Amino acid sequence: SLPNNATIIEVGPRDGLQNEKNLIETNVKLNFIKCLQDAGIIEMELTSFVSPKWVPQMADAEKIVKNITKVGRQFVLAPNATGVERAMENGADAIAVFVGVSHTFNKKNINKNTDEAMDSLAPVVAKLKEQGKFVRACISTAFYCPYEGKIEVEDTISLCKVFASWGVDELSVADTIGMANPVESYTLFKRLKEELPNLLLTAHFHDTRKMALANIYAALQAGVDRFDTSAGGLGGCPFAKGATGNVATEDVVHMLESIGVHTGIDVEKVCEAAKIVEPLISGTIDSGQFRLFKQK
Ligand code: HMG
Ligand code: MG
Repeated sequence: SLPNNATIIEVGPRDGLQNEKNLIETNVKLNFIKCLQDAGIIEMELTSFVSPKWVPQMADAEKIVKNITKVGRQFVLAPNATGVERAMENGADAIAVFVGVSHTFNKKNINKNTDEAMDSLAPVVAKLKEQGKFVRACISTAFYCPYEGKIEVEDTISLCKVFASWGVDELSVADTIGMANPVESYTLFKRLKEELPNLLLTAHFHDTRKMALANIYAALQAGVDRFDTSAGGLGGCPFAKGATGNVATEDVVHMLESIGVHTGIDVEKVCEAAKIVEPLISGTIDSGQFRLFKQK
């Protein structure tokens, strides 16, 4: 059975833009964020406090966090203690930490293997929880790794359980390079729902093989009602070979609303937001809803 409501966590300003080689002006990003808020989005990843040498597009994280009007829950990503410190100095109150299941992916993405990353994140998360901050843990390569191939369900579940034991508030479980199929989506999310029933559980699908909507439908059947999506389907991790965009917010909202799952988000306005960045990005936006919007 399907839930009556689902929550969309918009990741366009962060995941959507981090892989874009054209540097987008801070003011444009702020306008993009404002339009997404106007579309009814109340949970969003705004930016990330990562090394500007690694991800130049996120070098303006301070300016973004300082200049937005807070609406609902607004996340910033932080890979380490330095990132969290920068985020706190600028008034962030919901932090997303991230790690992959795969050692090789982690080495490429954060210059640590999985064990090293978890050892260094443990005190960071403990301190955030002491301070009463909302902590979201993003689990990359939960299904497949571009370097190591198929990831075992048990390995993903073990990593999720460590975060649960640290008291994080939310797990966002990701198909980083868009390789999962609906059976794998259902299987993993069903297990996570059963084993960690008290955590907010979110599904994060990239749409490389155009399987993301099917995977979301499968995750819904497994009891998931939170989805990370990106306006215009922008996105991808610069350190995951073969990664392309996230599933498009406008397409997910359209699908959910059409099957009676309420999101509170206005598809037209999400497309208006995507239109702001469309002329500035190196690629094109080809989500179904955006194409229809442009034909009007
Ligand atoms: P490193 O080079 O090993 O860092 O990078 P380090 O700790 O050795 O420090 C080197 C220098 O960087 C030092 O400066 C630090 O202060 C500085 P120096 O002394 O040379 O002047 N530094 C920082 N500066 C700003 N902010 C920081 C920071 N930390 C250290 N937070 C590091 C390690 C983790 C920093 C680097 O690898 C990094 O920034 N990686 C981030 C990569 C990234 O952003 N990936 C994309 C996000 S994850 C994702 O997209 C997946 C997701 O969407 C889910 C999915 O789809 O799978 C969430
Ligand atoms: Mg991602």
